[in-house]
Amino acid sequence: MSVLSGKKILLGVTAGIAAYKDSFLVRLFIKAGAEVKVVMTPASKDFVTPLTLSTLSKNPVHSTFYDKTDENELWNNHVDLALWADLMVIAPLTANTLAKMADGICDNLLLATYLSAKSTVYFAPAMDLDMYKHETTAKNITVLEKRGNVFIPPSFGELASGLEGEGRMAEPEEIVSFIEEHLMEGMPLRGKRVLITAGPTFEAIDPVRFIGNHSSGKMGFALAEEAAGLGADVVLISGPSHEKLVRGSIKRINVVSAYEMYESTHEFVDDVDIAIFSAAVSDFKPKVVSSKKIKKKEESMNVELVRTPDILASVGAKKKQQYLVGFALETENELENAKEKIRKKNLDLIVLNSLNDKGAGFKSDTNKITLIDKSENIRSFDLKKKKEVASDIFNEIIKHIDA
Ligand code: C5P
Repeated sequence: MSVLSGKKILLGVTAGIAAYKDSFLVRLFIKAGAEVKVVMTPASKDFVTPLTLSTLSKNPVHSTFYDKTDENELWNNHVDLALWADLMVIAPLTANTLAKMADGICDNLLLATYLSAKSTVYFAPAMDLDMYKHETTAKNITVLEKRGNVFIPPSFGELASGLEGEGRMAEPEEIVSFIEEHLMEGMPLRGKRVLITAGPTFEAIDPVRFIGNHSSGKMGFALAEEAAGLGADVVLISGPSHEKLVRGSIKRINVVSAYEMYESTHEFVDDVDIAIFSAAVSDFKPKVVSSKKIKKKEESMNVELVRTPDILASVGAKKKQQYLVGFALETENELENAKEKIRKKNLDLIVLNSLNDKGAGFKSDTNKITLIDKSENIRSFDLKKKKEVASDIFNEIIKHIDA
């Protein structure tokens, strides 16, 4: 799955003949799972139609500050467009727009959007060989690069003029793989495999009833998104949860019972580098599962419970290269119990969340954690959104695996 999956890409189109290739570029971005919006210079509409690009991107295309044909004359807010984008790609980039970008001129919507961009800007020049070789073009490319914009070099080949040389816009496939490579460079979890368990487990009593708990899965899903965002290959094994994943690159395995979670975990865990057990696994299950719905004949009834497998302990017992992270939800003697768990389950790190803390734990969007590593270093964090908590947890893990 592409690193572009879930990314918001703003494609800027300028008036080069290669603009027709943007229909393929938009399709490739969409195929990679990205969301695409297009902003065009007015002159570029002679080379590829806004209708083509809006149809392929499934979004309106903008080229002016406001739409004169619209009776409401809605203003196209370049700041909103720029802030929306996770990355901006200007392809093809003509010598004219390149020069204006270098000098901060903003006489059209694309240029104003560029000046407001906070995200990484990639630019793929396309021009005739002499224009490309001209010293002002070379100087302008350097100005943009010094500014942190990323240069996608043109290739050598036949040009629209009929001449042959350097200046052809990189092919759409090359642009996509260039950006993918660039995004993955420097990602701290690039090449790492991460397994995460999340959510509750349900243990059947009969075909309609079960023993479960209030876990929503929110913490585990936030961890999965964070790991994928840091470049990892992620498998998320989730008990019943209403949570949805944003990144299509995450492999989600749905399970119901503790035993199914155990089976799935052992299918993947031997090959992973990091395993995080955030699931609230049922500790007990009914000894016998009735094949029919149990009738309410008696005033009372007993359900005999037996232990479920401790998934985390079973992984700890055979741990090799894996950096193993457990969760602990304690109501008393929190620190001592958490430290004991590190030893008993052979963990590298434990995330302690206390039910005593307001806003922490099940169902809530926030959590307040304390991290304890196997050398018993303790770090406590403030109450934060689960997304930020996930980031704190991975910062700690990355510190340890890099050490
Ligand atoms: O021992 P305790 O249930 O408090 O440990 C909690 C940690 O162990 C959590 O990381 C939880 O995901 C994991 N666990 C497990 N399998 C169980 C019970 C807990 O993986 N059956």
